Amino acid sequence: MTHPNALNADNSRRDFMAGTLALGAASIVAPYAFGAMGNGIRPSANGFINVALIGCGGRGGGAANDTLTGNPGVRLVALADINTTTSKSLRDELKKKFGDRVTATDADIFDGIDGYLKVLARTDVDLVILATAPGFRPQHITAAVAAKKHVFAEKPVCVDAAGYHICCAAHDAALAQGTAIATGTQYRRQGSFVDAIAKIREGMIGDVVGMTARYCSNGIWYRDRKPGMSDMEYQIYNWMHFIWLSGDQITEQAVHNIDCIHWVMGGPPTRAFASGSRWQRPEDSEMWDSFSIDYEWADGKVCSLQCRHWPNSTVDCNNVVYGSKGTATIRAFSDGSVIHDRSGKELWKTKGDIGAAYVAEHKALVASIAEGKPIVELRQTAESSLMAVMGREAAYSGTVTTWDFMTKESKLALFPSSIDLQGSAPTPFVRRPGEYKLT
Ligand SMILES: NC(=O)c1ccc[n+]([C@@H]2O[C@H](COP(=O)([O-])OP(=O)(O)OC[C@H]3O[C@@H](n4cnc5c(N)ncnc54)[C@H](O)[C@@H]3O)[C@@H](O)[C@H]2O)c1
Repeated sequence: MTHPNALNADNSRRDFMAGTLALGAASIVAPYAFGAMGNGIRPSANGFINVALIGCGGRGGGAANDTLTGNPGVRLVALADINTTTSKSLRDELKKKFGDRVTATDADIFDGIDGYLKVLARTDVDLVILATAPGFRPQHITAAVAAKKHVFAEKPVCVDAAGYHICCAAHDAALAQGTAIATGTQYRRQGSFVDAIAKIREGMIGDVVGMTARYCSNGIWYRDRKPGMSDMEYQIYNWMHFIWLSGDQITEQAVHNIDCIHWVMGGPPTRAFASGSRWQRPEDSEMWDSFSIDYEWADGKVCSLQCRHWPNSTVDCNNVVYGSKGTATIRAFSDGSVIHDRSGKELWKTKGDIGAAYVAEHKALVASIAEGKPIVELRQTAESSLMAVMGREAAYSGTVTTWDFMTKESKLALFPSSIDLQGSAPTPFVRRPGEYKLT
């Protein structure tokens, strides 16, 4: 089994080459008759929706491929990444597959830490895909909404309380002005998840009692520092291992399971009790090896979330919902869902297809723009991201956290006051329970 990061990095690139060129060539038509949009904000160009990609790594490339695959009326007109070698080679790969629908020339590829602002300043860009390291997401979303762009924001959308509040404000601003924000929580659009949760809502497992959810894998990448890199360049390059950039594994990866908990339970919990471990990372990594969180609701329900990176260990990234009459197992990736009754008899099952879900989220976003009914789902994903932060902070500090504290009192703001690519970066440190305090 492969975790989504690896799956995207591998499959997205492989799929570019395997895909048909016919899709790109055959789709040079203007397919959208746009519906009325709030405040007159419309896609710019003759019925096409012009997309720009900000963050051109594994998932950014996958997302660009997914929107071009699912939406014949989408064109890729600009890219931004701090590393233009990455963005140019991605553009070349996509152009081979999608032909004239990839219009970005070298002049449309922007680098530097403020490359995203150059993309957002362009009047021909309708929709931006935000797929940099997560720490930048609240800032990038805010700027994109201010520029009146439609947004696809990869998960997680925040790694601290400050980022959560920024996302909530951006959600409200997008709603008010009539622009879309969809997020990279693809399981919300995966048939095996949607149908299983519909069966739960219909009562197939009786009353929901609780849930276990896991993102337990063998590990994640670590990128060695290259000669000549500044501290800031290095941390952004090896972003997974720095909490201000990734939020740790619980925020970066297990947010998929936490989002499933949020979905099944209908919203965030009231408190979190947590533990975890850190014993085998490279010295400068801030990440923990494991987290175990009990999320508790006011009515007494408890959902248990585990995530861990342990080499040569059992991999389990599934979600299990326990009911008074049965159990629903909602498996990650493409592994499908199954529902049993209390005696173990199988009541229902279905296959999964994560690749289709990655395309479906971009189809839904673009259709919503074309119909003039833009999807705005940022708050939901901000809540799931903050649930991850709430669990992480409970583990780091060794104290109980509450949703009230996280949303009303926490001052946790990890993003540096300024970013100089050639300069210093936050000093890495490992959070230790008993020493680390909630803020
Ligand atoms: N939905 C999913 O299943 C899924 C899967 C994998 C990754 N993701 C998410 O996608 C995002 C990107 O992950 P990835 O695996 O593609 O990482 P990656 O390291 O492969 O790519 C990130 C890219 O962003 C660039 N970048 C970083 N900060 C930047 C900035 N401030 N401005 C411009 N460019 C910047 C980097 O140079 C790099 O090319 C993360 O938020 C990750 O959690 C989601």
